[in-house]
Amino acid sequence: MIRVGIMGAGGRMGQALLRACFSTPNIILTAAIEKEDSPAVGADAGEMAGFQKLGVPVVGNLRSIIDTIDVVIDFTRPESTLTALAICRKLGKGLVIGTTGFTAQQRSEIEAASRDIPIMLAPNMSVGVNLCLKLLEIAAKVIGESSDIEIIEAHHRHKVDAPSGTALRMGEVIAKSLGRDLQECAVYGRQGHTGERPPKSIGFSVIRAGDIVGEHTVLFAEEGERVEISHHASSRATFAKGAMRAAQWLMNQPAGLYDMQDVLGLKSFS
Ligand SMILES: NC(=O)c1ccc[n+]([C@@H]2O[C@H](COP(=O)([O-])OP(=O)(O)OC[C@H]3O[C@@H](n4cnc5c(N)ncnc54)[C@H](OP(=O)(O)O)[C@@H]3O)[C@@H](O)[C@H]2O)c1
Repeated sequence: MIRVGIMGAGGRMGQALLRACFSTPNIILTAAIEKEDSPAVGADAGEMAGFQKLGVPVVGNLRSIIDTIDVVIDFTRPESTLTALAICRKLGKGLVIGTTGFTAQQRSEIEAASRDIPIMLAPNMSVGVNLCLKLLEIAAKVIGESSDIEIIEAHHRHKVDAPSGTALRMGEVIAKSLGRDLQECAVYGRQGHTGERPPKSIGFSVIRAGDIVGEHTVLFAEEGERVEISHHASSRATFAKGAMRAAQWLMNQPAGLYDMQDVLGLKSFS
C-alpha cells in the first residue's frame, strides 16, 4: 500500500484526488492538507469528498503529518508547492506536482530538490494529453517547418495562469522538435496593427469561460491543408487518475525529475 497525502484537499482538483484515492487499488489516503486558516481544517476528508467518514481529518500543516505519508500529491499554488517541496526534500518523501504557473526561478528550485528526492512534475496528468504531446513531436518533425503553428486553449473562469501549463508544454515540445527556442518564437495574443505573421513563430490564444475543464488544440496550417491535434477534458477525474498512476510509479524511482512521459513509458516511442 502506498500512503498518500493530498495538498489542497479542499480545492477543485483536491476533491477529485480524494475521490481517486478511494477508488485506486494500492493507494491509501493518510493525510489531507489545506491552508492553516481554511474552514476545511478539522473536517473529515471522506465526508468532504462526498463519501463516508474515513477518520482522516483535514490538517493545516504538511509538516505535522508528513511521517504518515510515502508520496505527497500537490495541486495548489506555486508558493504552497515550494513549501511542500522543502518539507519533502528534508524528509526524503516523493512528490507528485500538478500545480502550474511556476516562474523560472521556482522551476530551478524544483530541479535542485530532485537531486535528493523523486519528483514527478506535469502540467497535465491526463493520459490523452500526454499521448498528444508525443503526436505533436512527430507532427512537428514531419510538417512543422512548412506550417504556421498555433496553440489554442480554453479553461474555466477561475483559472489564474495563462496560457495554461499544458499549452506552454505543447509549445516547448514543438519548439524542441524544430530546434527553436520557445522564448524567442512564442507570440502571446495579437491586437491592433500586428503586421504579417512571423514565419517561424508559435502563436498562443487563450479563452477563459464558464466551467470548461480544459481544451487544447494545436494547428499546423499550410496553404491547401491543415492538421489539428486536439484534446478535450470533460472531467477532472482524468487528471486525478493520472496523478494516482504517477504516485504508484514514483514509489519505485530513485531521486530525479520525471514527467508523465516517463510514467507512461512514452519516451521509448520515437
Ligand atoms: N497537472 C494537471 O493535470 C492539472 C489539472 C488541473 C489543474 N491543475 C493545476 O492544479 C492547481 C490547482 O487547481 P484547482 O483548480 O484545484 O485550484 P483550486 O480549486 O483553487 O485549489 C487549490 C487548493 O489549494 C489550496 N491551497 C492554497 N495554498 C495552500 C497551502 N499552503 N497548503 C494547502 N493547501 C493550499 C487552496 O486553498 P484556498 O482556496 O483557501 O486558497 C485550494 O483549496 C492549479 O495550478 C491548476 O492549474 C493541474
